[in-house]
Amino acid sequence: MKDSASGLICPKCEQPLTAQGNQWQCPDRHSYDTAKQGYINLLLVNQKKSKNPGDDVDMVRARTAFLDSGIYEPISDALNALVKTGPVLDIGCGEGYYTHRLQQQSGCEVIGLDISREAIKGACRRTKDIRWLVASGARPPVSARSIKTIISLFTPLMPKGLDHALADDGEIITVNTGPQHLMQLREVIYDEVKAESFTPVPKMADAGFIAVDEQKLTYEVTVPGGDPLVALFNMTPHRWKVSPERAEKLQTIDSLTLEIDVVLHRFRRQKDS
Ligand SMILES: C[S@@+](CC[C@H](N)C(=O)[O-])C[C@H]1O[C@@H](n2cnc3c(N)ncnc32)[C@H](O)[C@@H]1O
Ligand SMILES: [Zn+2]
Repeated sequence: MKDSASGLICPKCEQPLTAQGNQWQCPDRHSYDTAKQGYINLLLVNQKKSKNPGDDVDMVRARTAFLDSGIYEPISDALNALVKTGPVLDIGCGEGYYTHRLQQQSGCEVIGLDISREAIKGACRRTKDIRWLVASGARPPVSARSIKTIISLFTPLMPKGLDHALADDGEIITVNTGPQHLMQLREVIYDEVKAESFTPVPKMADAGFIAVDEQKLTYEVTVPGGDPLVALFNMTPHRWKVSPERAEKLQTIDSLTLEIDVVLHRFRRQKDS
């Protein structure tokens, strides 16, 4: 990979960073190390809400175990079919499953960014052909308006960060859960289940991005009970809402047939923004 082409900027002063050995430096000599795993830590202390923000080690392991089973491969394929050009920035890339498959299938220059150091360490294990950054999606440390395609899967929207990074003619692709997503899992762990629906469209419109395409992807999968089902549960936000006793029910089930329901959106800048 080229050493300076990704257009990284200093998170303190926003001047360009250049690589000197294992260090990245701006003209004002703010410097950042490349970790031994290969990522660059561009997260400033004042951008952290806790000492180790984002997913922890257990969540990262659960996510990798589940994603490597291939059950979400159709989501990855649907995403890849929408990406036309790089450079690509994955905001909230997690442990890099989707990022890596996209890089392999598209051959584009890809940057993966996450606030969780543990997630990025996992991502570094997948490949060194992606520029992995520990950084905040609220202010991605890339040159202004330099990214042709931003992808963001199952991650909170950070409109100011999108506005900073996206090229004038660029596209943002978001992937979010639809109302029926994992309904059968929710029926096991909750007494009462509501069809929850979320759409990024209004918040993106407020930030100056219009939806140019919406695709719904639904399919059924059967997930074995025990560890695979627990791994899936542990990578969902339900993990934080359900008591350990409730979650243990997932260990005793033989298998569960689940509905996967996700929605992909493509956004562009509104013409006058
Ligand atoms: C539900 S996970 C999705 C991960 C990955 N996109 C996937 O689908 O496997 C959400 C990710 O957003 C990251 N995240 C949360 N807040 C963030 C922020 N402010 N900047 C960058 N990443 C953030 C978390 O650390 C986590 O890895
Ligand atoms: Zn600087």
